[in-house]
Amino acid sequence: MDRIRIVGGSKLNGTIPISGAKNAALPLMIAGLLTEETLILDNVPRLADVAQLQRVLGNHGVDITSVGKRPGDHAYQGQTLHISAANIIDTTAPYELVSKMRASFWVIAPLLARMHEAKVSLPGGCAIGTRPVDLLIMALEKLGAEIAIDGGYVIAKAPGGLTGATIDFPKVTVSGTHVAVMAATLAKGTTVITNAACEPEILDVADCLNAMGARVSGAGTPRIVIEGVARLHGARHTVLPDRIETGTYAIAVAMTGGDVQLAGARPELLQSALDVLTQAGAVVTPNNEGIRVVRSGAGLQPVTVSTAPFPGFPTDLQAQLMALMACAGGASQITETIFENRFMHVQELARFGARISLDGETATIDGIARLRGAPVMATDLRASVSLVIAGLAAEGETMVNRVYHLDRGFERLEDKLSACGATIERISG
Ligand code: UD1
Repeated sequence: MDRIRIVGGSKLNGTIPISGAKNAALPLMIAGLLTEETLILDNVPRLADVAQLQRVLGNHGVDITSVGKRPGDHAYQGQTLHISAANIIDTTAPYELVSKMRASFWVIAPLLARMHEAKVSLPGGCAIGTRPVDLLIMALEKLGAEIAIDGGYVIAKAPGGLTGATIDFPKVTVSGTHVAVMAATLAKGTTVITNAACEPEILDVADCLNAMGARVSGAGTPRIVIEGVARLHGARHTVLPDRIETGTYAIAVAMTGGDVQLAGARPELLQSALDVLTQAGAVVTPNNEGIRVVRSGAGLQPVTVSTAPFPGFPTDLQAQLMALMACAGGASQITETIFENRFMHVQELARFGARISLDGETATIDGIARLRGAPVMATDLRASVSLVIAGLAAEGETMVNRVYHLDRGFERLEDKLSACGATIERISG
């Protein structure tokens, strides 16, 4: 199993290219199931989760080819995928495939909408809380699906096709919103979704669906209206930049000090996180090429932050912010409101000497002057990158074990950081 070795203490200086967003690329690839024509996606990150979804889609008979960079492309541009679901040969998504990544469960929506049936294993993915799918099932039932759960599988049928409906989510859910929007594109009549997730990835997918001939309006707001159409066609769409990768590197620079240009980043996708970093003492400057983050000599200020649905502070940056606050000049408080039990990184950060106490959903972090490198264990995707950030700033050597979690969501992490002066290497085997 690969490990990552870091020798901390170097400032980060240079340019980090920001990849396409994992959390948009995955639902966009799944949207390819909605049409028999080819969907071309540009700027898809090369990640283990993308490769895993290719296997899931391949099992349904989807043909996917990958095209690399073309001359003149920016360094941050990812691969281009040509996704063709001309023939869906199987409407079952088996346990062996779906258990590896939660988002693969979302194939249930396009399969049901286009093929009128789907049998999908209950999902797996990061161990951050119970993460049920009850709201996804509720949305599909509202659209007229008959749903049974048997032997660990969700079996969904809509013999006459789906029908437009009103779907009012009792809590904001990204997965529920993606599933409801995708399913409604091919439903008969109008669907109105209220209390929809407003995450930028929802809007990115809606833009792509509209380019495919769907009629989705209001995406990016809590009220989304979808006029169902009989069929969708092929399209070409570019995946938006990854706001979580952007925020992660911005936090890394705030932590180590230095001056880094995050090339291709879009500040409006993570304004709340950039505001928190500014409050903590980083200088954040949007410019034509992305976002520049600078932190010079001055110490870090403590902050009080609660995670919240977009446009609030993202839960996917909570662990990274906690690493940063471990070195602030005072006590910070971070409250996690989205996922229960998303504090697995706390005990690992403690190995660096971080002083963190937990009370329910709130962590209090008493900043110390300097962390000390340590052997640590990656537990989930975002938690594991918080350990890398801590290691970059810590004195001495850090060894991060179980880095496959990182490979799920961060493209060429060690290359990007070492190009900016970090001492970080992958040890294979
Ligand atoms: C997505 C993101 C993930 C991010 C999260 C919140 C992807 C691939 N993943 O995850 O990185 O951390 O949004 O921004 O885009 N819930 C239910 N019932 C359901 C569905 C969700 O109770 O049927 C709960 C969840 O347990 C959680 C909350 O709703 O407490 C939010 O979950 P959701 O927004 O759906 O997260 P994901 O889409 O899984």
